[in-house]
Amino acid sequence: MADLVLSTVAGVPVEPGEKRFLSVNPAHLDETVVQVALADADTFVAACQAARRAQREWAQVPAPVRGRVVASIGRLVEANFDRLAALVTREVGKTATEARGEVQEIVDTCDFFLGEGRRLYGQTVPSEMPEKQLFTFRVPVGVAAVITAGNFPVAVPSWYIIPALLCGNAVVWKPAEYAAGCANAFAELIRHAGVPAGVLDVVFADGETTYAGLAAAMESGLVDKIGFTGSTAVGERVGALAGRHLQTPCLELGGKNPMVVTEDADLELAVEGALFAGFGTAGQRCTSLGTVIVHESVHDEFVARLDAAVSGAVIGDPADSRVLYGPMMNDRFAASFEEYLGWIGEQHRVVGSTGRGRISAANPRDGFVGDPSTGLYYHPAVVVGVGPKDRLFDNETFGPIIGVTSYRSLSEAIELADRPGYGLSAAIYTTDPAKAFTFRGGTRAGMVSVNNSTSGAEAHLPFGGNGRSGNGSRQSGIWVLDQFTRWQSMNWDYSGRLQRAQMDTAVIEPDLGYRLS
Ligand code: UN1
Repeated sequence: MADLVLSTVAGVPVEPGEKRFLSVNPAHLDETVVQVALADADTFVAACQAARRAQREWAQVPAPVRGRVVASIGRLVEANFDRLAALVTREVGKTATEARGEVQEIVDTCDFFLGEGRRLYGQTVPSEMPEKQLFTFRVPVGVAAVITAGNFPVAVPSWYIIPALLCGNAVVWKPAEYAAGCANAFAELIRHAGVPAGVLDVVFADGETTYAGLAAAMESGLVDKIGFTGSTAVGERVGALAGRHLQTPCLELGGKNPMVVTEDADLELAVEGALFAGFGTAGQRCTSLGTVIVHESVHDEFVARLDAAVSGAVIGDPADSRVLYGPMMNDRFAASFEEYLGWIGEQHRVVGSTGRGRISAANPRDGFVGDPSTGLYYHPAVVVGVGPKDRLFDNETFGPIIGVTSYRSLSEAIELADRPGYGLSAAIYTTDPAKAFTFRGGTRAGMVSVNNSTSGAEAHLPFGGNGRSGNGSRQSGIWVLDQFTRWQSMNWDYSGRLQRAQMDTAVIEPDLGYRLS
């Protein structure tokens, strides 16, 4: 029987109720990775109360000491690297190479923030009056509720949890149920690094229960910041809830990430980038490629080469090192992917595989590694001839599918790139610097790649989007500090008298009538 994973409140495991979720291996559906006891809304609120109590003391720990704790998290993750990566592969079906990259991203995040414990700089600012000094301080926001998806079951959570803890906040983390084993393992590593009980609790709950618990906790003033990674639709609800409490959440939502291929592009490189961006992680990244927008003069050549590359890509058992992508993460994502496949119309041409839909003995994929009947494996689809007003063009399609369209002028390409209204990651393949910079300046995307995949952002650049992709919040690097701290200013008058700002300031009279002869 697989382990039963429990939520915690103040570090103490919560007595399991009736509701259970089985987190299964999507490559071997008969293998349960963990059983999850799903918590109720009151448990979420209780964890927020515990966080509120624990946070004050945690904020008193000197920031450099908190930085050492972050360093220890990084070292513990390194010491458990292989096991954690193997668990990521087992639970969400990422290839072994990508799972290792995922774990490396936590280490990179810890390496970045351990030093921030010795900075967290504020400023000294001159006053307009003598014998008075001005200062700024970064103060923790308080309690952060962090709700994450399972496609990056440990790396993306670390983007919230590590800086939040470093800045002196307490965190209540609600991970995806279908990635509960990974979440539980990561939380254990964080606890063993010395994060005190109550400063990080994990609550496993379904979406509606989480919303109810979050709404109740906010009503009681127990949450100061929401961090949410997930769909645009849920992000809108979370954003509305936060707004009612005058809060600005950190929202990382979906994407319909474009890749422009200009007439002068290195087509081989562009094909390689499209293959990884579109089909790596089975297209289940928020940064996965949505539509390739190719200059009409190279369109047919590009499609032919992309067809060959996608047709030749190895799909199958994610533990096999030859594999580009494995299964869908769980049946919910498989079901929504089947719906997106239904959006393919007669006006489209589909290339890239020997079949369409779920891979099976009756619907085989050339070169498949392993037994397709054991997991949630899907054919890749390159849909040629998509365009505005197509559902496939306008909406995120989480899964191994990309669209291709063509353009004439760069301004048309930029217009097509932004048209779906998302704005997360956008790429351009070109050998012309002028086109690269024009594209950068023209697109609304929060992240721009030149001659590189739309996915695969480095962990110390600002990560986030605009429009349907988010509310402009940014994670990672120094920029995330503005999510987990607030600026407090202080002025200190040591003149011994009341000096009124704007009124008692010294004036040096200029002779503004003076003119050169
Ligand atoms: C996500 O899919 O939610 O840039 C994040 C990337 C990864 C993170 C993706 N480093 O593709």
